[in-house]
Amino acid sequence: MPAEILYTIHFYVLFLLLTVRFSSSFIGNGDNYRRNVSLELNPGLNSLLTPLPPGVGLLHVRALGKNNTLHYLLCSQGAPALLLVHTSSISSKVVVDWPAFLVQNTTGSLKVTPESSVLYSNALVFTRLWEYDDVNDTADPEHLPPSSFFQPYELQNFTWGDLNKTLDPMANTALLCGRDASESFSNGSLCLKFSAFDVEGRDQGWPSLLHNANSSQLRVGLDGVAPRSNRSRFSLELQAVGDTQPMSRVDFLRSIDDEYTPSIFKVSQWVSSPVNSTSPVLGYAQWKPVAYRRPSPVFEDATPCRHSTPVPVAQLPPSGLVLAYFGGERQTTGLNMTFSITGDPFYNTTNYLSWTVLVGLGSPPVDSFSPLVLVIMAVGLGTPMLIILLGGVCVCVRKNRPQTQVYEPIN
Ligand SMILES: *[C@@H]1O[C@H](CO)[C@@H](O)[C@H](O)[C@H]1NC(C)=O
Ligand SMILES: *[C@@H]1O[C@H](CO)[C@@H](O)[C@H](O)[C@H]1NC(C)=O
Ligand SMILES: *[C@@H]1O[C@H](CO)[C@@H](O)[C@H](O)[C@H]1NC(C)=O
Ligand SMILES: *[C@@H]1O[C@H](CO)[C@@H](O)[C@H](O)[C@H]1NC(C)=O
Ligand SMILES: *[C@@H]1O[C@H](CO)[C@@H](O)[C@H](O)[C@H]1NC(C)=O
Ligand SMILES: *[C@@H]1O[C@H](CO)[C@@H](O)[C@H](O)[C@H]1NC(C)=O
Ligand SMILES: *[C@@H]1O[C@H](CO)[C@@H](O)[C@H](O)[C@H]1NC(C)=O
Ligand SMILES: *[C@@H]1O[C@H](CO)[C@@H](O)[C@H](O)[C@H]1NC(C)=O
Ligand SMILES: *[C@@H]1O[C@H](CO)[C@@H](O)[C@H](O)[C@H]1NC(C)=O
Ligand SMILES: *[C@@H]1O[C@H](CO)[C@@H](O)[C@H](O)[C@H]1NC(C)=O
Ligand SMILES: *[C@@H]1O[C@H](CO)[C@@H](O)[C@H](O)[C@H]1NC(C)=O
Ligand SMILES: *[C@@H]1O[C@H](CO)[C@@H](O)[C@H](O)[C@H]1NC(C)=O
Repeated sequence: MPAEILYTIHFYVLFLLLTVRFSSSFIGNGDNYRRNVSLELNPGLNSLLTPLPPGVGLLHVRALGKNNTLHYLLCSQGAPALLLVHTSSISSKVVVDWPAFLVQNTTGSLKVTPESSVLYSNALVFTRLWEYDDVNDTADPEHLPPSSFFQPYELQNFTWGDLNKTLDPMANTALLCGRDASESFSNGSLCLKFSAFDVEGRDQGWPSLLHNANSSQLRVGLDGVAPRSNRSRFSLELQAVGDTQPMSRVDFLRSIDDEYTPSIFKVSQWVSSPVNSTSPVLGYAQWKPVAYRRPSPVFEDATPCRHSTPVPVAQLPPSGLVLAYFGGERQTTGLNMTFSITGDPFYNTTNYLSWTVLVGLGSPPVDSFSPLVLVIMAVGLGTPMLIILLGGVCVCVRKNRPQTQVYEPIN
């Protein structure tokens, strides 16, 4: 084989290796930050002295890092809420004054101590479930007359299940299910599946969001609710309360790889970020704009979702946890997450919806190219180059041949 061809193949292999090497810096991001995660229910409660009212539970997850701690608190007193508190200490504690906490009128009845170690805190609250009769199939609740809306379900008035029964300390998960007193919920429920993570990874089920040690996840499932019209669609209202920086804007990222979430090339993140947008993000809620219409979805069960622009909300959300921890004057923002778009089936076809959100500290995880896509890219880019190079080599070899023939007779 002529040396030029050998060189070309050599170059091609080198190119492939370099591409994979370069791109693998995007895979996994080399992120191996690890936390020690432990779960605890109703921290500090002596249930003999202070019996809990039915449906009230407080899950505390401690995620211990090398020199800092993340506390997650999931509470079902009032509207369900997830509070994230980041401290610079490895021995920070959650202190609850239970009698005051249960009366729900005392700010400071839940604290993370020492208070001086708290670096960041933010709460995400699920406040309302809106249902509207989409007679014209616009899937656009922001432009519908008020008469299209049914009375919203207030999540603060739901009866919530016992967290103790659904806690899985091995998997670091818990399931919080609740129902409204109305007839529509007699066979239905709204469930929040909470997962805490000790290290980077992905959930098995779609949307398979990428998570890391600084994040936790909530999967919302609306199952078996009797719709109040045949053309009913739903939106979920979310509110966020923060200590310094409210979650004020939703950023939109695009990706060219949909391997982990088929047909979805976007990710949305509602971020809490200082006024100067060049500064890093302090915390976030991140989701892919997709919901699923079956518990074990196939491709056709995906339905896009949209969010409204976050707006300031005048009052604190009706969550016992938020009142106890923040209280007083805090900036609250809210948005509505609307499931489905024009032309998609209505809720009555499957009587199921699920949507997943990641809640975390710092910059949201960024999806990277999967190894499969990298190989396709390397081969796709490398092969034409190989052909061009081989072509060039052949031309050179042809051109050289007459010259060697010219010189040969002299020898
Ligand atoms: C986590 O726990 C393991 C074993 O209990 C311990 O060896 C490790 O140092 C802990 N890591 C942190 C960050 O505390
Ligand atoms: C915590 O550790 C990180 C690196 O592991 C370091 O950058 C940071 O300065 C440390 N923070 C404190 C308060 O020691
Ligand atoms: C909270 O409610 C209790 C009982 O309803 C009442 O005794 C107490 O004064 C209230 N505290 C505040 C600060 O409003
Ligand atoms: C539905 O469309 C009809 C005809 O365009 C219109 O008159 C009606 O107001 C629309 N209804 C709603 C709820 O938007
Ligand atoms: C929900 O509960 C609040 C406070 O307990 C009450 O004022 C309101 O009427 C209830 N809403 C519904 C729809 O039941
Ligand atoms: C949870 O349930 C177990 C057994 O059912 C019980 O022993 C434990 O005390 C309960 N924990 C709390 C915090 O209620
Ligand atoms: C709930 O399920 C029962 C038994 O399947 C049925 O008879 C009833 O009509 C259902 N209720 C609603 C509101 O769908
Ligand atoms: C998680 O947070 C810690 C503490 O702020 C930081 O050192 C670490 O780099 C973060 N890890 C990731 C994956 O964001
Ligand atoms: C929904 O559609 C079914 C079948 O088309 C019909 O029998 C039923 O009356 C409708 N229900 C409502 C609330 O419109
Ligand atoms: C759902 O609503 C559609 C549109 O009105 C109706 O045609 C269909 O029969 C309903 N499906 C069920 C299962 O009720
Ligand atoms: C934002 O940036 C400007 C110019 O860089 C600076 O003057 C201002 O103090 C910054 N504001 C905040 C809140 O950091
Ligand atoms: C959510 O949508 C409902 C109905 O359109 C509206 O009344 C409410 O103000 C919206 N909430 C937020 C936070 O935008």
